[in-house]
Amino acid sequence: MSVQDMRDFETLARNELSAAAYGYYAGGSFDEQTLADNEAAFGRRTLRTRGSADVAEVDTSTTMLGMRVAASIGFAPVALQGLAHESGEVVPARVAARANVVYCLSTLSSRSIESVGAEGGGTNWFQLYVFRDRRLTEELVARAVLSGYRAIVLTVDLPVVGKREREILDPLLLQSRLGNIGDLEGSDFRSGVGKTIDPSLSWDDLAWVRSLSTLPLVLKGILHPLDAAMAVEHGVDGLVVSNHGGRQLDRVLASIDALAPIVDVVDGRAEVYLDGGIRAGTDVVTALALGARAVFIGRPYVFALAAGGEPSVTLCFDILLRQLREAMALSGARTIEELAADMVLDH
Ligand SMILES: Cc1cc2nc3c(=O)[nH]c(=O)nc-3n(C[C@H](O)[C@H](O)[C@H](O)COP(=O)(O)O)c2cc1C
Repeated sequence: MSVQDMRDFETLARNELSAAAYGYYAGGSFDEQTLADNEAAFGRRTLRTRGSADVAEVDTSTTMLGMRVAASIGFAPVALQGLAHESGEVVPARVAARANVVYCLSTLSSRSIESVGAEGGGTNWFQLYVFRDRRLTEELVARAVLSGYRAIVLTVDLPVVGKREREILDPLLLQSRLGNIGDLEGSDFRSGVGKTIDPSLSWDDLAWVRSLSTLPLVLKGILHPLDAAMAVEHGVDGLVVSNHGGRQLDRVLASIDALAPIVDVVDGRAEVYLDGGIRAGTDVVTALALGARAVFIGRPYVFALAAGGEPSVTLCFDILLRQLREAMALSGARTIEELAADMVLDH
């Protein structure tokens, strides 16, 4: 099969993964309406392109939290990549390092903070879940600092685990320990995560999270402009507009539908990123034009990891980057800054 499209990796990955692992990666919550809408909502928009610009040189580079990156595309934190490949998160981290883009490691990774930091070697950010065991949470941040991670991404949309029916019907039983925290309490991954994460996390805890390191702090899982405003008032450096890939509350709005009002409220006081449903260069252009500083991809690179390891993850990223360059050229935009909101029409 010749791969033309990031979506093709899902078909290939399905043959390589156990049914439970495939269901874990692919699934969303309840009726999976938000999961589908994350992609469909991009299709409800059209691009109004400009011509007659010299696009012989298109520059996809930007900065994220002051770090220079080759493209406004990062790798989102996805748990348990050891189910897709024996080297787990080390592989996409290496691909990201080579491409000079951000790799964000999940707290619930298969490989450890230390091994991904050392073997990945690029610009790594660390995604943090706050555990009921606050000491363990503090240790995770300290380990990320020691291993050279460059930002903490605090996920705020998982006080409890969404009702993912594929996982409930075919529970994921872990064969090996988690990279950062060893074994989870409980019979399967879903119930273990539910027992470990602290549902009482609130705005009052932000100062404590902040105090754990001097790294920039990003909040992930923001959908409401009022939360974006609170986040900025609490001094965060960035936020990720995200519904956790449609895995938490079903029927919440698609990420791209949430973006513009949040960009308005934030008004340049923090960087705004987006994830959810990015599957083509036109999706990236749409999100950047509407004010996202960068986007993150989730499932596509994990399916690529399962389908063919490092070459496939590289190909997956290259496909998206090539499509981004082409979409920018055909939009008359030489730089990310030239992607403007008036290029996107909403229907
Ligand atoms: C299998 C899976 C596991 C995930 N694990 C985490 C996680 O550990 N922490 C986190 O903040 N987000 C997690 N996410 C959410 C992703 O970071 C991201 O928000 C989402 O996958 C983006 O949507 P996309 O898959 O449509 O690109 C996970 C997503 C998937 C699909």
